[in-house]
Amino acid sequence: ASSTEVDISAVQPGQAIKAVFRKQPVFIRNLTPAEIAQANKVPVTSLRDPQTLAERTKEGKENWLITMGVCTHLGCVPLGAGEGETKGEFGGYFCPCHGSHYDTAARIRKGPAPSNLEVPEYEFMSDTVVKIG
Ligand code: FES
Repeated sequence: ASSTEVDISAVQPGQAIKAVFRKQPVFIRNLTPAEIAQANKVPVTSLRDPQTLAERTKEGKENWLITMGVCTHLGCVPLGAGEGETKGEFGGYFCPCHGSHYDTAARIRKGPAPSNLEVPEYEFMSDTVVKIG
């Protein structure tokens, strides 16, 4: 199985980068404390695809949100990882194809996508390198 190692040392809080895993985009985002708080204050039972931020991140590294950059509706690449103010109504990612809005835990909040952006298998090799896959 192929995996990919990404240096995340330059990703500042509030920034997201794109990597490539199995020919698909992966978003690696360094959440700010405010973005973490925003995700954690949402009642999980109110969500279409109920998951907590903690369930979508690694313990002790809840600021690192790593998801596939593939909309769960029909597979477009959402905006919000490097395009500036295009994070949608919930501060995470926005898919312009049919208007799906994801929050700061990359959970679907509005629009046609049925589920949250997928979290791939990954592990931290060090504080600055993550291995995806
Ligand atoms: Fe993203 Fe349809 S593919 S909203």
